[in-house]
Amino acid sequence: MKTRIDKLLSDNLNLSRKQVKSIIAQGRVKVDGAVVLKGEEKAEEQSVITLDGKEVAVSKFVYIMLNKPKGVVSAGNDRKDVTVVDILPDELKRKNLFPAGRLDKDTVGFVLLTDDGDFAHRILSSKNHVEKTYIARIEKNLSDEDIERFEKGISFDEETQYLGAKCRMVGDRTAEVKIVEGKYHQIKRMFLAVGNKVLELKRTSIGGLELDGSLREGEARRITPEELDMIM
Ligand code: URA
Repeated sequence: MKTRIDKLLSDNLNLSRKQVKSIIAQGRVKVDGAVVLKGEEKAEEQSVITLDGKEVAVSKFVYIMLNKPKGVVSAGNDRKDVTVVDILPDELKRKNLFPAGRLDKDTVGFVLLTDDGDFAHRILSSKNHVEKTYIARIEKNLSDEDIERFEKGISFDEETQYLGAKCRMVGDRTAEVKIVEGKYHQIKRMFLAVGNKVLELKRTSIGGLELDGSLREGEARRITPEELDMIM
């Protein structure tokens, strides 16, 4: 598919159309070796685009792994709070990024940000059974009976029924839970339903992709195409 060069450059370099127009007019952009002087010219996705001789990595969509810290909200923008998009480094920022799935303000861990709405829908729909794994520090250890209730599917109140979730104790007052849905405060409410309480919560993986252990809280990096395949 052919896309306008000014759009490709502004999306992938996080520059305004005006900035891109001026860079192009200065003759600094080449497509497959030939200087381009007009932003409306088009390039194929596989074209090699260079700016000042350096190749620009262009892709239609972007996928980012963020290790979300506490105190940050899972939204594209928010009038009051700092968002997961606000804390991305400039080189990763791109228009239309949003978190594919929300973590509560006090939950930490893996947030996937993308501008690919179809992909986000696929990983979030419970029909596709993409498991999200959480580690919860809880008030008291779960009994075998509690674990059985998690596995069968718990109801929180008359209107809220959760699908079965895999659950196991992985340490003292520490449980690992895998869910395929992402309902409001789901993990916290599942524990409340068995008379327990989540004290701290971290998401550690989405599908088969684990949070990169070298990312400190607040740090982010692009997800590679191979890693993207591991999610579904
Ligand atoms: N479940 C919760 O209760 N909180 C989160 O942030 C994610 C899942």
